[in-house]
Amino acid sequence: MDNKKLLELLNKQYNFEIESAYIYKAMSLWAAKENWPGVANFLHQQALEEMFHASKLQNYLLDIDYDVKLTSIAEPKAEYSSLKEVFTEALEHEKQVTSNFMEIMKEAKEVSDYQTEIQAQWFLTEQVEEEATFNDLILTLERINDSAAGLFQFDAQLAQRSFSKPQA
Ligand SMILES: [Fe+2]
Repeated sequence: MDNKKLLELLNKQYNFEIESAYIYKAMSLWAAKENWPGVANFLHQQALEEMFHASKLQNYLLDIDYDVKLTSIAEPKAEYSSLKEVFTEALEHEKQVTSNFMEIMKEAKEVSDYQTEIQAQWFLTEQVEEEATFNDLILTLERINDSAAGLFQFDAQLAQRSFSKPQA
């Protein structure tokens, strides 16, 4: 494969996955500080998942002999006004990731790079789940509507999540 633009997009996305982990870590720290241990756990697990995504892209790039580059990452937002704001921003972030992979897919198709297409396909399938997860959590928060008992249960439920590497 010698498509420079496609390889640059993949390297950019590799960095964006690491940046995603950094953003979720910042959200997790905020949740811990605000005494939502379950939410803090959920977001920490999400950060681990993002690092797994980065590793998947890194392995692919190394396998095709690309000189993988790390770029600088902006300091993530540290303060949030509510759990709803956290999950709404997380959903927006995931939508950005989806659109990035659509661009990668489009480019791969244009240059008939079937191997990169398969990689992009895995991520696009994964993104359906990512967006659905955050969407569901936002809907649940809307239903809870700041009820103390509801929020307590929400937090307890999110304490259950543990990331295990999916079969890829
Ligand atoms: Fe990701």
